[in-house]
Amino acid sequence: MKIDVLTIFPEFFGQVFDFGIIRRAKLAGIVEINVHDIREYATDKHKMVDDRPFGGGDGMVLKPEPIFAAIENLTGTCDRDAYPAGTRVVLLSPQGKPFKQAMAKEFADDATHIVMICGRYEGVDERVNDLLVTDEVSIGDYVLSGGEPAAIVIADSIVRLLPNALGSDTSAANDSFSGGLLDCPHYTRPADFRGYTVPEVLLNGNHAEIEKWRFEKALEKTRQNRIDLLTGENGEM
Ligand code: ADE
Repeated sequence: MKIDVLTIFPEFFGQVFDFGIIRRAKLAGIVEINVHDIREYATDKHKMVDDRPFGGGDGMVLKPEPIFAAIENLTGTCDRDAYPAGTRVVLLSPQGKPFKQAMAKEFADDATHIVMICGRYEGVDERVNDLLVTDEVSIGDYVLSGGEPAAIVIADSIVRLLPNALGSDTSAANDSFSGGLLDCPHYTRPADFRGYTVPEVLLNGNHAEIEKWRFEKALEKTRQNRIDLLTGENGEM
């Protein structure tokens, strides 16, 4: 898989993709990640990437021209219907569809090239959305200063689902959300830490009992923290 990130703050990404599972996946050739400065695609002499909104109002809006040029360079076209198969152009914005594990899985299974456009300021010229973007995505019901942290979140959650990215085949299957429940609690040595002991069932080697305990604890955790996952309703607000 190839992931390209378009941002006006390329330095923001620093070494963020150089650790752990993502680093290993990059070294193994499972994913290639490149960060691009939108400003490099600006054609005017001041390298302008943003401008005031038509109709007035606060803040600045990212201009369409540099983003169109970047997408054309990265995908070969700025006609959304002509992208090569497996191409997804993702706009990170608080107005997007909620990003969930199921969406991460869908991207990991179906996409071969993901271009992420990090919005900034008051937003991105809507023609980018109308003509280039295949998926407008939000990572949660809060407003970030820009799409950059969201791009990191999305890249991370997708890369760990790519074939052979994790050490063992089963690790992702047991993650929170993949079975509709949150993950169960985990313990490691020492079995007795300052008098706080590990549940006995985990020490006795009875795998059927351990699985049953894990399921019950996952259910309990989900009921406590994310009742909406069980009822289909949002427990908050
Ligand atoms: N940009 C600003 N807020 C965002 C959010 N919640 N998700 C994705 N991109 C964003």
